[in-house]
Amino acid sequence: MIQEILVTTQNALGVAHIAPMGVHVKGDDIIILPFRPSITLNNILDAKVAVLNYCDDVRIFAGCLTGRKNWPLVQADVIKGQRLSSTLAHTELELVRVEEDETRPKLYCKAVYSVNHAPFKGFNRAQYSVLEAAILISRLKWLSLEKIEAEIAYLKIGLEKTAGEKELEAWSWLMAEVEAFKAEQLA
Ligand SMILES: Cc1cc2nc3c(=O)[nH]c(=O)nc-3n(C[C@H](O)[C@H](O)[C@H](O)COP(=O)(O)O)c2cc1C
Repeated sequence: MIQEILVTTQNALGVAHIAPMGVHVKGDDIIILPFRPSITLNNILDAKVAVLNYCDDVRIFAGCLTGRKNWPLVQADVIKGQRLSSTLAHTELELVRVEEDETRPKLYCKAVYSVNHAPFKGFNRAQYSVLEAAILISRLKWLSLEKIEAEIAYLKIGLEKTAGEKELEAWSWLMAEVEAFKAEQLA
C-alpha cells in the first residue's frame, strides 16, 4: 500500500525540511522513495532518521509544491528530528538499509515510535482532489497540457462539492502554478 504522507527530515545543522512523499508500507517495512536529487534523501542518508506526519491539512501538501514551506514544527519525541505541530498522528523512523538506484533509491525504514494527537475525521473528496492536483503539479514538465487540463477538470468536480476553506486555499495555490506553467509554455 502507498500512503501519501508528509515526511519531515533535518540536516546536520538542524534545518528542517518538509516533503510530501508516497510512502510504501509492506508489513513492517516502511519504504521512502525519493527521486534524485532530493533534500529528503540527503537528510535521511545523513541523519538515518525521518518522521512520517499523517496530516489532513492539504495546504501543507500544496504549499510544499508551491514554495510555501514554513509550517509550524515541534521536536520529535524519540529521534533527533521534528514533526508537524498540526499532524493528526506521527511515526518516527530509523533507516535500516538502502537499496541503491540512480533515479529513485529505496530507503527501508522501521518505526521506532508512533503517537496520535487528534482524531481522524473521515474522508473528504476535496482533499483527494488537492492531493492529486499536487502530484500533477510535481510532474508538470513531463505531462501534456491536454492531460493536465482534463485531470484538473475532473478533480474540480469533487473539490467544488465538498471543499472547506483550507482545501480551497490549497487548490488556489496549485491552480496559480498551473496558470504560470501554461503562460510559460505559450510564451
Ligand atoms: C502526494 C505527493 C506524493 C509525492 N511522492 C513523491 C515520492 O514518492 N518521491 C519523490 O521524490 N517525490 C514525491 N513527490 C514530489 C515531492 O514532494 C517534491 O518533488 C519534493 O520537492 C521532493 O524533493 P525534496 O526531497 O528535495 O523536497 C510527491 C508529491 C506529492 C504532492
